[in-house]
Amino acid sequence: MIEVKNVSKTYVTGAGSFDALKEVSFTILDGDFVAIMGPSGSGKSTLMHILGALDTPTSGTYVLNGKDVSTLSEDELADIRREHIGFVFQSFNLLPRASALRNVTLPLVYKRIPKEEREKIATIALRSAGLDDQYFHHLSNQLSGGQIQRVAIARALVNQPSLILADEPTGNLDTHTGQIVLETFRKLNREEKRTIILITHEHDVAKHADRIIFIRDGKIESDKPV
Ligand SMILES: Nc1ncnc2c1ncn2[C@@H]1O[C@H](COP(=O)(O)OP(=O)(O)O)[C@@H](O)[C@H]1O
Ligand SMILES: [Mg+2]
Repeated sequence: MIEVKNVSKTYVTGAGSFDALKEVSFTILDGDFVAIMGPSGSGKSTLMHILGALDTPTSGTYVLNGKDVSTLSEDELADIRREHIGFVFQSFNLLPRASALRNVTLPLVYKRIPKEEREKIATIALRSAGLDDQYFHHLSNQLSGGQIQRVAIARALVNQPSLILADEPTGNLDTHTGQIVLETFRKLNREEKRTIILITHEHDVAKHADRIIFIRDGKIESDKPV
């Protein structure tokens, strides 16, 4: 479960300081599928970085699975990310000259899981993410955008994260392919009870979630079911 309470984030630059988030509060329960929506510059990525334990708030608290994440050190944040969070980004961040399977097994290498076991886990994740078995040994630069994003989703799944955070995951895809990727998230939510937070500036994307938190100028403007 996620509890965000009065979270603010102020960036200080040479030009002065800027309040990117202002006293943001909400709760997300396990198994929820929530979209965070807002126009460009509204603070979505800032919020995603905090939710993903990539950054900490300037003030306020963020509790993830019972642990206050808002005051942790860099090393502790890295542990939280590894154990609890799967990321899917707009740009896919796959290794282009490695196979789909290898891209997905990679996060498991660092956990010292034996090769055979790694491939078993990756195979399950790739199937969950909807990639056909025939593509598992294709290099990722031989796959289509939609297939690549499925590999990225599978990679986000292998550590069994309690939370999947997707920042504009369809931003580089055509409408039809984006639709398929969104259906993949829906399926993971429904069938595997994954908690999913989908960050987007598009209503057509956000409406695939069960709830939309709308932010503007760093504040929550509305928070309601779809
Ligand atoms: N590292 C940073 N330093 C200074 N200002 C930043 C930084 N990151 C984001 N901002 C500013 O904070 C605001 C929100 O940015 P962001 O969270 O990226 O919004 P969104 O993802 O909704 O487009 C923008 O005005 C942006 O210029
Ligand atoms: Mg952004």
